[in-house]
Order: sequence, then C-alpha cells, then structure tokens
Amino acid sequence: MSEPRLVVTRRIPEPAIELLREGGDLWVSEDDRPLERDELHEAVRGATAVVTLLHDRVDAGFLDAAGPQLRCVANVAVGYDNVDVPAATSRGVLVTNTPAVLTEATADLTFGLILMVTRRLGEGERVIRSRTPWAWHMFYMLGTGLQEKTLGIVGLGAIGQAVARRARAFGMRIAYADSRRADAGLEAELDAVQVPLDELLSTSDVVSIHCPLLEETRHLIDAERLRLMKPTAFLVNTARGPIVDEAALAEALRNGRIAGAALDVFEGEPEVHPGLLELDNAALVPHLGSATLETRTAMAVLAARNALAASRGEPPLTPVNPELLPEDD
Ligand code: GLV
Repeated sequence: MSEPRLVVTRRIPEPAIELLREGGDLWVSEDDRPLERDELHEAVRGATAVVTLLHDRVDAGFLDAAGPQLRCVANVAVGYDNVDVPAATSRGVLVTNTPAVLTEATADLTFGLILMVTRRLGEGERVIRSRTPWAWHMFYMLGTGLQEKTLGIVGLGAIGQAVARRARAFGMRIAYADSRRADAGLEAELDAVQVPLDELLSTSDVVSIHCPLLEETRHLIDAERLRLMKPTAFLVNTARGPIVDEAALAEALRNGRIAGAALDVFEGEPEVHPGLLELDNAALVPHLGSATLETRTAMAVLAARNALAASRGEPPLTPVNPELLPEDD
C-alpha cells in the first residue's frame, strides 16, 4: 500500500510538522497566507488526511477535489463552522477539532477583554500614545468595577466554565444561558444559575459569548436582543463574529444603548465594521483567543495526531462526527 498523503494548508508549529513527516508523504503550504479556493482544491487532491485552518472552507467542492480516498479533515480550532460536517460525514470523511487544549488561553483572553472594556484600558492607552494631555483627578476616566456584578455566559461549555471560574475569583455572580442544564455539581461549584437568554441579557452587567456558530446562533445577538441589555452593560465576544450583528452592535454602542463591547472575533474577518473603529467604548483585538505559543503548538499537535490516526485507520482523539467510527464492542 502506498504511503498516506498528508496535506497541511498553512504553516503550523514545527512539532506538529515533525509528527506528520513521519506519518507519510507530507505537503505543507509554503506561503503563510490562506490558500485561495482553487489553490486549496489543487493542494488537497489525492490527500488521505488534511490539516486545515479556520479560514479554509471545507465544503462539498473541497471534499470532491480531494477525492474518495480522503479519510480525515483535522481542523486546527475548536470551532468547525468552516467545515460542512454533513457533507464530510456523507462521504465517510472524519472531521476533528481541537477542544480542551485552548480552553484556558481563550478564557484568559476573554477575561483580559472584560477588564479592557470595563476599565477602559484601550482608551487609556490611546490617550498616552496620542500624547493627549492628561492629569489624574478623582473623576478621570472612571470605569466599572466587577465585584458583585453579574456575568451572563451564553454557552456554558468548557470555555464558558473557565471564564466563570475566573469571574468567581473577581467576586462576580454567574448566570448562564444554554440549551442544556449544567450538572448540579458544576452549578454548585460556580454558584451559577441557568436563565433564559432574554432574561440573561436584561439582567447581566457583562454578557460573554461562548457558544458555537451554528445556523441557530447566527445573529443570536441582534438589534432586538441588544435592546434588552442594560445601558450600563458590556458585551464580550470571543466565540465567532457572526453570532453578533456587528452593524447593530456599532449602532447600540454609538447611541449608548449599552456601555461597551469587547470583540476578539468579527463578522467578516479580517474586516471590522467601520462604525466600531470610531468608538472608544469598543475594545477590539485581532482573533487572539488561543494565541499563545504553548496553546497553538498543542492545537497543531492534536490536529496532527488526529490526522495521523485517521490516516492509519485508527480512531482519532477528538472526532466531531464519531458516528463514522466502528462501535466499541
Ligand atoms: C479559534 O477560534 C478556535 O475555534 O479554535
């Protein structure tokens, strides 16, 4: 049998490349940029497993271009909204993601953003860097304290839970909205109460989004839902941009409908709604949730292990369509 052909669509950390090199005939894109659709389809032709990044569109066209020998698409991200999972499953292609390894880094970044927007850190830095004259006084650039405030978590998965743990250390109360009730032990540990989304929006001081992007969650936070939020409240999104209607958010921030927003992700990444760029009450960072060397390395290594396992006909570690795997006896 010929060696598996392994494809990596963009530069990833070396430890992952080393693993893959031992597992077959490896092709890695040399350009550190997303491949155009045609280039991507050309690159994956004949692949046994492909390691993809979150900007690669894995749809029927991709899967057909790869061909019927394709066993696995190993996405280097916990989110896999860039992958048409039903199209992959119907072709018998395993899809894997990288959960767990990025939980703490993403929760840290989320908390950084919460502090950034509630304590006006970006705005303060802009004052200094623009050499704007300033002087300390009792009422200068006052922010909002977090202690005794309510953090509303939309989606209490691993990242939402890790954010809640940090918030508890800051003296915050925790509410969450999720289609599933957390188990009693977790609710007790976090002292968290489940509430319907609209109630969460109308009662929270900080709303932080941690749900996946699905058809049901696209524009989950739209103009109408933003109107439910308190004028003193903040919205934080480190999940996926399209969960929030960015134009509606810019409008709500401009009109003072809500106090501020902090975003790590954007609807049309890397574009950012121009309305947001003008606003001091918007803290904006370029999709840095998992961006530590340790975490990105762990993500890439996990994706490489998934691709290798599947290419050898073994079960991958973190499949998102495990129904393709033979049942355990
Ligand atoms: C990053 O955005 C991820 O989904 O891992």
